[in-house]
Amino acid sequence: MEGKGIQKGMKFAFALIITLLLAGDVFASEKEISNGDKDKRVMTPERKKQHHAMSIIEKQWNLAKKAMDVGDFQTAGMVVEKILEEAVSVENYKPYKNADKPKQYLEDYNFFRETLIKLKEAINRKEKTIGEISKSVDEACKRCHGKFR
Ligand code: HEC
Repeated sequence: MEGKGIQKGMKFAFALIITLLLAGDVFASEKEISNGDKDKRVMTPERKKQHHAMSIIEKQWNLAKKAMDVGDFQTAGMVVEKILEEAVSVENYKPYKNADKPKQYLEDYNFFRETLIKLKEAINRKEKTIGEISKSVDEACKRCHGKFR
């Protein structure tokens, strides 16, 4: 009984966080600036946008994973949907490394996108593969970062 109460509370907390996340980009701005300074990489308006998008995606993805952990699939599905919307811009990034390999970049992008779509479908059907596909999404982040970040 007590466990159920906690779970309800968690769900409420997630709903709140999501509302905040979707309402504004409050969380993203500070990090993107400090990261850019630290790396001493040339910051163009385009890159500023992609840093921003990435940090939003990171927060959304962490949220989706937490929602899946507590079994809140409705929230998880919603957040994955949002990531998919945000991820459209990832296709056109100007990566810092290996910018001369657009074909490989596109492959990594497509893997990322396809994995997210698979995850969303699995969540909708509450399939057992959710955990496994989640790991593939983590892998997709790493795969692209390894070459292009
Ligand atoms: C197809 C390529 C690609 C995929 C997939 C990808 N990223 Fe990135 N990511 C990048 C590149 C390129 C950068 C560095 C350039 C930048 O930040 O603008 C980056 C930077 C980041 C940053 C640093 C942002 C900042 O403010 O400096 C975070 C955090 C991040 N990614 C999280 C994620 C997470 C989490 C996922 C998976 C859910 C993911 N990324 C998937 C390409 C990708």
